[in-house]
Amino acid sequence: MPALALVPGEIVDEFGKRFGSGARAAVYRAPGRVNLIGEHTDYNLGYVLPIALDMACYVAIAPASHACLRIYSRNLDQEFCIAVADLPNAKPTGQWSDYVVGVARELAAIEPCDLYIASDVPAGSGLSSSAALEISAAVALLGGRVMEKVEIAKLGQRAESQFVGMPCGIMDQYAAVFGYSGAALKIDCRSLEHEYVELPSNVRIIAVNSLVKHELGTSAYRERVAECQAAVAAIQKSHPDVKSLRDVTPEHFDTIQDTIPSVPRRRARHVISETQRVVDFSAAARKGDLREMGRLFVTSHRSMQHDYEISCEEIDFLVDSAIELPGVYGARMTGGGFGGCTVNLVRPEDLETFQQRLAAAYQERYGKMPAFYECKPAAGAGRA
Ligand code: GLA
Repeated sequence: MPALALVPGEIVDEFGKRFGSGARAAVYRAPGRVNLIGEHTDYNLGYVLPIALDMACYVAIAPASHACLRIYSRNLDQEFCIAVADLPNAKPTGQWSDYVVGVARELAAIEPCDLYIASDVPAGSGLSSSAALEISAAVALLGGRVMEKVEIAKLGQRAESQFVGMPCGIMDQYAAVFGYSGAALKIDCRSLEHEYVELPSNVRIIAVNSLVKHELGTSAYRERVAECQAAVAAIQKSHPDVKSLRDVTPEHFDTIQDTIPSVPRRRARHVISETQRVVDFSAAARKGDLREMGRLFVTSHRSMQHDYEISCEEIDFLVDSAIELPGVYGARMTGGGFGGCTVNLVRPEDLETFQQRLAAAYQERYGKMPAFYECKPAAGAGRA
């Protein structure tokens, strides 16, 4: 499990080689995240429990004498340029640069500058490389300008939902901004406040990358958002005070579920039970109850698999294989779905066997080697 952490000094050197003004460049960083539990609850205003990662997106920035926002991506070896005067009328291009342009439009009053971007958050893995890009660009473009942290998270979310066109919730941007090296963040997506949940020291959190990303991603996400809204609309017929699925407890849901059409009913059952699982998992983590934490992981996965229908064959294989291995308390898919990563709770002394046996099984079945990342809570966005 190689630690990929990029070195800010190198990025400044590369910035200098590319744009010729390296000495003036400042480097900012925003992390990816792994969500421990609470999937697709954020846009239903429930709870989520991510940790920010040490894998992050780095942005070196310096003012420029041209009239543009000029952005270079080292990962893709591509450059994009737009006159700052054209930002208000910019249209999305469907490319990576949309994330940065979307953020720049939200910030307004951008001065011409060069940005050199390098990220070690694996793209398409469910570890939120896009929020890491949005938030690192936001803090870099803000520079010395002061903005409340929660406003930075919100503007990143707006850039993604309104400009990029992915109707995401707030979790990823919030985790990228508020990440903390000592604990997971239990975020209340209704009040936009969080509390820290320390994790037991005798467990390792391992993300396993299936290296598949099924195309359905954005369209299915949009569909799930709409199905949750349909569930709320059905509930409102008898309970007009319900504004989101967060306002429905599991007990209440049991008494009203027959009034909801079948597909929205299953989506709502996932969301409502999943929000409760975040509460229960946080309580179990604080007590160091690894068995209960693992049980909730698996229940969450089954709920995503059968009720929310956002898993896929490769991910189910990784979960089903992992939970048979010694020292694995639980496993589940993490992130938006249809591929990406699983997250696993593993006893430290069993880590090596876990990795070897899971890799061998996956390779035998799908002909590719999954990637493993040990996830330790890391700090949120800031100067690198
Ligand atoms: C994506 C979205 C988040 C969240 C997760 C699912 O990562 O960006 O807002 O909805 O999916 O939990």
